[in-house]
Amino acid sequence: MSAVTTSAKGWINALSLYQPGRPVEEVARELGLGDPETIVKLASNENSLGPSPRAVEAMKKAASQMHIYPDGDSFYLRSAIAKKLGVSRNEVFMGHGSNEIIALLGHVYLESGTSAVMSEQAFVVYKLVCALYQAEAIEVPTRDFTHDLDAMRAAIRPDTRLVFVANPNNPTGTVVSNDALYGFLDSLPDYVVAVLDEAYVELLSPERQPDTLRFVRERKNVFVLRTFSKSYGLAGLRVGYAVASPEGVALLNRVRQPFNINAMAQAAALAALEDDGHLAQTRAMVEEGLNQLSQGAR
Ligand SMILES: Cc1ncc(COP(=O)(O)O)c(C=O)c1O
Repeated sequence: MSAVTTSAKGWINALSLYQPGRPVEEVARELGLGDPETIVKLASNENSLGPSPRAVEAMKKAASQMHIYPDGDSFYLRSAIAKKLGVSRNEVFMGHGSNEIIALLGHVYLESGTSAVMSEQAFVVYKLVCALYQAEAIEVPTRDFTHDLDAMRAAIRPDTRLVFVANPNNPTGTVVSNDALYGFLDSLPDYVVAVLDEAYVELLSPERQPDTLRFVRERKNVFVLRTFSKSYGLAGLRVGYAVASPEGVALLNRVRQPFNINAMAQAAALAALEDDGHLAQTRAMVEEGLNQLSQGAR
């Protein structure tokens, strides 16, 4: 073995790789399915409606300016998100997908001798990030296929820094009740930071969506993560965001790369954010699919 391997930090050699859903071209080739265009890729819960036409237009317009570095502050995008959510711009942090933000939270909060609590069946990246920062991932068994918040609360130890709640959850597709979530957040010890991963929250009807931004406004220890990858159909661009206290945002800004959101992504996300029609269509499509699937299963 060469120094390329032996000089690497020991635990990096032992990390497991994230296994993404395979490209449709590869699947078509392997299974002899012919035209990949006829395959609908859902392996990473993409939006099969595609991006908002407004986002596509914005990308076309932005294309001729790609020789210029992006706005490292994502000023207009952060302003638009803040306005839409009724928070201030300094409470919004942009990430290269919400995935990047999960990794950056690990960078800020996790190290050897610390731990993070998560559901046994939740987004796998939480566990991978713990391994990356040599923290212990405390995986709590699910109840009724979803987060067992009482058991997660009980699993918190003095060395716990983060607790992850994916709501709606991936891979189980379940939602915890708003009251249970609020009670859980109120019960957390003050040294624990909650990461509320709401990658799919816009797919819930507005009345069902938890008001987790209230906890940001009340300056509780929370980071609310959202993404343009799912409901907004922009997974290929890699753009997500966190809503948190200005102090939380400032910490993430210290550890991110200066131009982590590319200019094309900023332009498209800004346009997508304003396309409520596309979002409503997406929600209707997912609801229809859910009904079809549950009827079929019955
Ligand atoms: C629960 C959850 N969180 C976060 C992500 C990451 O999304 P992205 O990095 O595309 O914003 C995913 C994607 O599959 C997810 O399912």
